[in-house]
Amino acid sequence: MDFSAQKKNAAAAALEHIENGVSGLGIGTGSTVNELIAMLPQYKDRIETVVSSSEASTQLLQQYGFEVSELNDVGSLELYIDGADEVTKHFDLLKGGGGALTREKILAGAARKFICIADESKLVGMLGSFPLPIEVIPMARSFVGRQSIKMRGQPFWREGYITDNGNEIIDIHNLSIVNPKEMESRLNQIPGVVTVGLFAHRGADVLIIGDATGAKTFQN
Ligand code: 5RP
Repeated sequence: MDFSAQKKNAAAAALEHIENGVSGLGIGTGSTVNELIAMLPQYKDRIETVVSSSEASTQLLQQYGFEVSELNDVGSLELYIDGADEVTKHFDLLKGGGGALTREKILAGAARKFICIADESKLVGMLGSFPLPIEVIPMARSFVGRQSIKMRGQPFWREGYITDNGNEIIDIHNLSIVNPKEMESRLNQIPGVVTVGLFAHRGADVLIIGDATGAKTFQN
């Protein structure tokens, strides 16, 4: 099924949070966010600073005429908008399908408000059907994979893929993520893990789910 109309509708609904002006805006990564980036130029004069979560989004933002700032030069962000691979009505997210999870988590952490935009297919009762991405220091890849097996996961190396930070990704299949916060903390403890694609300790503040005719907004 093609979810591009739903992604567009979710992105359009997020614009409402920008139309009155934003000082620092963080931009996520992925096809849903790409729809948002394409709509952003109409509000260019109301956005003071833009920070990006990936080289891919930076390139696209620049193509649309935005100057992209470094987070170090900006301080905190007023708003961060990003997509997700899975979302729950508890505002927990599973992210990193596009490999940008580390910078995404940094921007989410630095933002006063985090809006997640997604199509209906992303809304799930429990996270984990989508394989959980973990960014790892390359020399720790096998070690982290073996540790995930002890947690009943099945690790797959995203072979040939190097993150914007020079690291590797393993995707953990079949994890039973009953308690996302606990799972995030547990995986974060494994030496060599850079970032776990669970966004539970810092989940979304607002969830916008696009559908065929518009979008539904949920506030945390
Ligand atoms: C990238 C991400 C994306 O937000 C996630 O993969 C969703 O992408 P899309 O909007 O293309 O479905 O976490 O690292």
